[in-house]
Formats: sequence, structure tokens, C-alpha cells
Amino acid sequence: MRVLILAAGLGKRMKSKYPKVMHKIMNKELVNLVIETAKKLNPSKIGVILGYKSELVEKILPTDVEIYYQDKQLGTGHAVMSAKEFLNDEDILILYGDTPLITETTLKNLINKHKETHADATILTAILDNPSGYGRIIKDKDGNFIDIVEDADTNNEQKNIKEINTGFVIFKGSKLLFGLDKIKPNNKQGEYYLTDVPKHLDYVETYLLEDHSEVLGINNRIQLAEAEKIMRKRVLNKLMINGVTIIDPETTYISPNVEIKQDTIIHPMTFIFGDTTIGEDCEIGPMTKINNCKIGNNVKIIRSECEEATIENNASVGPFSRLRTGTVLKENVKIGNFVETKKSIINKNTKAQHLSYLGDATIGENTNIGAGTITCNYDGKNKHKTFIGNRVFVGSNSSLVAPLKIEDDVLIGAGSTITNDIPKGSLALGRARQINKENWVYQKREKGE
Ligand code: UD1
Ligand code: MG
Repeated sequence: MRVLILAAGLGKRMKSKYPKVMHKIMNKELVNLVIETAKKLNPSKIGVILGYKSELVEKILPTDVEIYYQDKQLGTGHAVMSAKEFLNDEDILILYGDTPLITETTLKNLINKHKETHADATILTAILDNPSGYGRIIKDKDGNFIDIVEDADTNNEQKNIKEINTGFVIFKGSKLLFGLDKIKPNNKQGEYYLTDVPKHLDYVETYLLEDHSEVLGINNRIQLAEAEKIMRKRVLNKLMINGVTIIDPETTYISPNVEIKQDTIIHPMTFIFGDTTIGEDCEIGPMTKINNCKIGNNVKIIRSECEEATIENNASVGPFSRLRTGTVLKENVKIGNFVETKKSIINKNTKAQHLSYLGDATIGENTNIGAGTITCNYDGKNKHKTFIGNRVFVGSNSSLVAPLKIEDDVLIGAGSTITNDIPKGSLALGRARQINKENWVYQKREKGE
């Protein structure tokens, strides 16, 4: 089977300088969502028909799809004709680039019915209370398919038919080629309708879809938001059914590729995106944003942002922390409030509980990073590395000027500016000594100053 996706339309009602199929839901372009679903069906090839501003759409498509161009949008039948070289004897499934909620399950059911019945074409239909705007399915009294009549071309009797064409259809390739030769633009809209093909075939089946939300087509930004909501709900429902607690689905945003294991709790106002994986018994949120992170079991992240970080079992983060790209927190690490990390590996049981910046650093096990510790990793031109060993105690408000190596069991006095490497087991002090001038204040007062 091959899949052909129609995506040439401009989408006037989006009121946008970008083609409709480039708009996003769940942070992914509509056309790419459809391609993703198509890929799950293992087709031998995927073709996409582009038209309006195709040079923009091309750039966001995966490289393994074949692109065809329809210069003028003369109808859905004309669109398919623009990809004639794509059609052969294989079955061909037609999808729309602006209808991204269609599921793999529905398409598989459609394909199975098509295979079992050996029909020339099998059309996905739905029954709508308000069918206006859609093509109507005309059947004889025994329920056999006769024709599809577009809304604009219906007579009064046909207008009342509630079974509609969703637009999704699978053809035997050879029959589609045969039928495309027969269609003419002699209708109200002066278009070549793909929906005029089936009536020229010997045997056409229909498959009735239960959940109408799957065929919500996106024509304006209100429908875009509706689709976002439906998609979001689907993702959250699936997680909840699989054993994840989501305290407030209304304020939780999780993208489809995220994996979360059983008994993890997601608190309100939380955003989890990308290819993030989260283990068991974690507590995430409230007010947390996570993108492309690998998170183990029993991890707690409160009011924080984490981007491309690895967080191992029993670690905790936040509130108000920011883990940036390349952060690795090993087991039991504690990152407290107002701590920023970047490209840093922090080993088992180490703590940085308050107000720190740890960048380009490797930190050993059982080390304590005192409040206000800063790795000075940037000299204005280059980034430099800091190595801190095991069981080190960095006193509060220390500046560690990289490149720097601090060996195991070092103790650094609070308020130090450390510019030289420190050997094992040493005490390091990098600050002026305190002096007390006794009675200095009283003497000043006596002089009346
Ligand atoms: C189409 C169907 C209608 C069905 C409805 C379901 C036809 C003639 N009608 O109508 O029976 O009920 O979808 O939503 O097929 N496109 C192109 N090139 C074109 C025209 C359209 O690529 O020249 C693409 C559009 O970008 C869109 C899809 O085809 O992705 C559907 O086109 P649209 O104009 O929305 O068709 P409808 O009038 O909604
Ligand atoms: Mg439409």
C-alpha cells in the first residue's frame, strides 16, 4: 500500500502568511502529524502533494517522503492527478494534510475492510447531525454505494442525508487511475472532484467511523485550538489509563511521545515535551517544564525547568531550578532552589541546595556545594572545565575560576575565589583575612565624628 497526502490548499481562513498544513498542534506541524500516523501503517511509500508556498512546506518534511506539486488548486481529483507517477498497482490510501486527528486504529480498520471485501475503493464515512459542508454518501435501498455528491451540488433531498464523506479513502491503484481519466469539472465549483471517481468503479464499500472528532478538519484557528485540546486529552487519557496520576488534566500539557511509568504523579501547570521518559513513583510539578529529559524512578521535580537532562533514581530538583542541556544528575543528587546547571555531571549523593551556577563541571560523589557557589566557566571567549572530587565541601559564596581541578576531600572556606588547583585533603582559603579593630566605633563616637 502507498499513502498519498493532499496538502496543496492555501487555507484562506487561517488568515496566515504560512500554508495551513504548517500550523502546529502539540508543537508539531499538521502535515507532519499526518505523516507520522501514515508511517505507523508501514506503507511502501508516502507521497505529499504541495501547492501554496510549497518551498516553505518542503523544508519541514521528512526526507523519506516523495513530493509532488499541484501549481493550481483545481480540486482534490486534480491534486491526485498531479501525482500520477506515484500511482501504480498497489493500493493507495488518501489522507488530508489538514485533518491530523485521524488515528492509526481507524485507518487500519478501513484498510482491513478494503482487503477483506476486495472492493475497488473503500470510503471512510461518518454520520453527522449537521452534515452541511460535507460530501453526502448516496446509497440504494439495500445500502449499496451509488455516489458521493458534494454539498454545493446537492438537491433538497440529498441535503438531508446524514452519512458524509470524511475524505479518507483507499483505492486499488489501477482503479484509481482508471477513474481519474473519467472525471470532469462539470459541477458547481468547476473543480475536478476526487469524489467523482468512485461512481465509475464496479464495487465500492464504505466503513463507518464512530468517533467524529477524528475527522475534524482544520480551517481556522478556532478549529486549530479544538484539535489541540482533543489531541492533548487523548495523550493524557492514555497515560491515566496506564497508571499515571494527573491531578489536573486541564492545566497539564504532555506531548504524544512522552513515556511515563506507573504511580508517577503529575501536578498542575506542568508541561512535558519531546522524547522525555519518566520512571515510576516520581512527582513532577507543579509549575514545571520538561523537554527531552531522561528521568529515573522516584524523582521529585518542583517548579523547575529541565532541558535535555538525565536525572537518575531518587534525585530531587527545585523549587526554582533550571537544568540545561547536558546536565546529568546521578542517584540521590539534590538540586535545591535557584540552582542552574549546564553540561555538568553531578555524581551520587552530592548536594547543591541553594543559589548556584554549575556549568561545564564534573562533580564527584558525596560532595557539598555551598550556597551561592559559582563556576566561573567563561572568560569572555572560551568555556573552561571544573573538576571537583568526592567528599569535597565547597564553602558558601565561593567562585571557582575554571579551568580548575579540586581533588578529593578538599575543604574550601566560605567566600573564597579559587583560581588554582587544590590537592587532595587540603583546606583552601582564597579571601582576605578578617581583622577586628577593637573599640574603633566607640573611639570615633567620642571624637564626635
Ligand atoms: C472534501 C471532499 C468532501 C468531504 C470533505 C471532508 C472533495 C471534492 N470533497 O471537501 O466530499 O466531505 O473533503 O473534509 O474531495 N486540496 C488540494 N488541492 C486541491 C484541493 C484540495 O491539495 O486542488 C487538499 C486541501 O489542501 C485539503 C484537502 O485536499 O487538505 C481537502 O480539500 P478541501 O478543499 O478542504 O475539500 P472540501 O471542500 O472540504
Ligand atoms: Mg475541507
